[in-house]
Amino acid sequence: MSEVPQAKGDSPPGSCPIEPAFRVPVTAPCLLMIFGASGDLTARKLVPALFDLHREGLLPGPFAVLGVSRTPMTDASFRDRLRTAAAEFGAGPFDAAAWDAFAPMIFYHPADVSDPGAFGPLSTRASVLCETSAIPGNVVFYAAVAPKSYAPLVRAIASAGLADPSGAMPGYRRIIIEKPFGEDLESARSLAADVTAVFRESQVYRIDHYLGKETVQNMLVFRFANGIFEPLWNRNYIEHVQITVAESIGVEGRGDYYEGTGAVRDMVQNHLLQLLALVAMEPPVSLSADDVRDEKRKVLHAIEPTPLGELGRACVRGQYTAGSSAGKPVPGYRAEKHVAPGSLAETFAAFRFTIDNWRWGGVPFYLRTGKRMGRALSEIAIRFRPAPTLLFGDTACGQMASNWLVINVSPDEGIYLRFSAKAPGPEVCIRPVEFAFNYHETFGARVPSPYSRLLLDAMHGDATLFPRMDSVEAAWALLDPFLSRWKADPGADLWMYEAGSDGPREADSLFEGNTEGWRSR
Ligand code: BG6
Repeated sequence: MSEVPQAKGDSPPGSCPIEPAFRVPVTAPCLLMIFGASGDLTARKLVPALFDLHREGLLPGPFAVLGVSRTPMTDASFRDRLRTAAAEFGAGPFDAAAWDAFAPMIFYHPADVSDPGAFGPLSTRASVLCETSAIPGNVVFYAAVAPKSYAPLVRAIASAGLADPSGAMPGYRRIIIEKPFGEDLESARSLAADVTAVFRESQVYRIDHYLGKETVQNMLVFRFANGIFEPLWNRNYIEHVQITVAESIGVEGRGDYYEGTGAVRDMVQNHLLQLLALVAMEPPVSLSADDVRDEKRKVLHAIEPTPLGELGRACVRGQYTAGSSAGKPVPGYRAEKHVAPGSLAETFAAFRFTIDNWRWGGVPFYLRTGKRMGRALSEIAIRFRPAPTLLFGDTACGQMASNWLVINVSPDEGIYLRFSAKAPGPEVCIRPVEFAFNYHETFGARVPSPYSRLLLDAMHGDATLFPRMDSVEAAWALLDPFLSRWKADPGADLWMYEAGSDGPREADSLFEGNTEGWRSR
C-alpha cells in the first residue's frame, strides 16, 4: 500500500513532510545530565537516540550531555565508549564524521550521588559547563539509575539546590524518571511524595518508551482522525482484544534487575497497560497533555478490579527453561547471571481484564508478555464479532476467517485488517485475505527510536506522551492484589515454559474456551 495522493481541498502536498520524522528542532539550549551514565540504557538507547537527533539537526543549540556515575572515566574515555555503542546500537550505518561533530558535546563526571559530598563538585561542573557552552540554565535530569536510587537521587538534586521547584532560577529544570515507578501502589505513592517534595508535577516526566514508538503514537491518529473505525470500536462489534509484547531475547545480563522486578512490574504495569489505555480510551477533548492523560486515567480506572477469589483465573505467569533461540541452544532463566538457582521470578505474564464502562462492558482484554518467546512480536490485535448468520457455513469449502484488525507495533510496523474473500472458481471457496499498511513501504522512512522522540518532547516541555501519576497509580492499584498474592505464595500461578516456545500452555486457560485462544501468527 502506498501513500494516497492528496485530494483537491486537502492541505497542500508538502505541508506536512513525513521526513524527517521530527519537524520541530528544540530552540532553547539545554544541558542533559544523565545519572547512571555508565549503564546499558545510556549506551544502548539514550546516546544513539541523541546522536540520531543530532544527525537530523534537531538538537538544541547549544546542547551538552553530562554523564554522571560512579565508574571512573574521563570525558575522552566516556566518548570512546559511547562511540562504540552508537556504532553498534544506532540506526543505519555509522556516520563517523557526524559522530566527530557530536562527541565534543559529551562530558563525564564521576560521582557517587549517594555521597552527600559529591553534589558540590558536580554542581560546580554543571555550572561551568553551562557557562562555557552558553547554556543559560535549562537542565533536564535523566534518572537512568536503578529504581531504588530514584528517591535518593532526587533528594541529592534538591540538596544541591538544582531542582528549582519555585521556578525562580533562569531557564527550566525537568526530570525524566525511568520505569518502573515504584514496585506497588504504596511504594509508588511514597516515591511520588519524595519527587513532589522536590519538583513540581509539571517538571516530572515519567518515561514509558512504548509511548514514543511511532506505531503507538499512531493509535490516536488511527482511531480519531478516521471516521470509519470509531463506530465499530465498542462492545457491539469487538469480541475481544489481545495485546502481546513477546521478546525473543532473555534477560540479557539484567538478572539482578529481573530478580527484584519480574515481567509484571517490568512490562505489564507500564507498557502493556499504557497500550490498553490507548486502545480503550475515549476521544480526548483536545490533544493537550492533560486532556489526553485525563482519558487514559479514566479508562485505567474503569478496569474492573479482579475479585480476590478470581486472581488465579485471571493471570498466568511463567519462567523460561533452557531451550533454543534463533536455532541456538540458550540457558534457562535460573542459569542466567545474577539469578538465584531456585528463583520464582516471572519472565512471562498474561492477564485477562475487563473494562466496566459503556463502550467496553463484557469485552475481555488479554495481555501477554514474555522473554525468550519463539518470536519477537509486539502487536495489538482486535477481534471482531462474527457475522450474525453462518450463510456460508454448510456450503463453503476453505476456511472462514475471523475478522482481525492488527496493529503491528514491532517489527514490520504497520496495520492490517483480515477478512474473508471468495477464491476465484466455480465453488464458494473462502480464504482469509488482508488489507495491509506497512510504514516502511508507505513512507520509506526508517522508524525513529522512541527515545529520540521522548527526549525531544521533554526538552520541548511537552508531557503528552509521559504517563501522569494518576495513571501510574491506577495501574498499580489493578496489579496490587496479584502482587500481594505472590508475596504470600511466591510460586502461585507460575509455570515453566521452554525458551523458544509461545510461553506456558496454561496461558490459554485465560480464554476459558471462548475463542481460539492466543493468536500465533
Ligand atoms: C524495557 C524493559 O522497558 O522494555 C525490558 O525493561 C524490555 O525488559 C524492553 O526488554 C522492551 O522494549 P522494546 O522496545 O525492545 O520492545
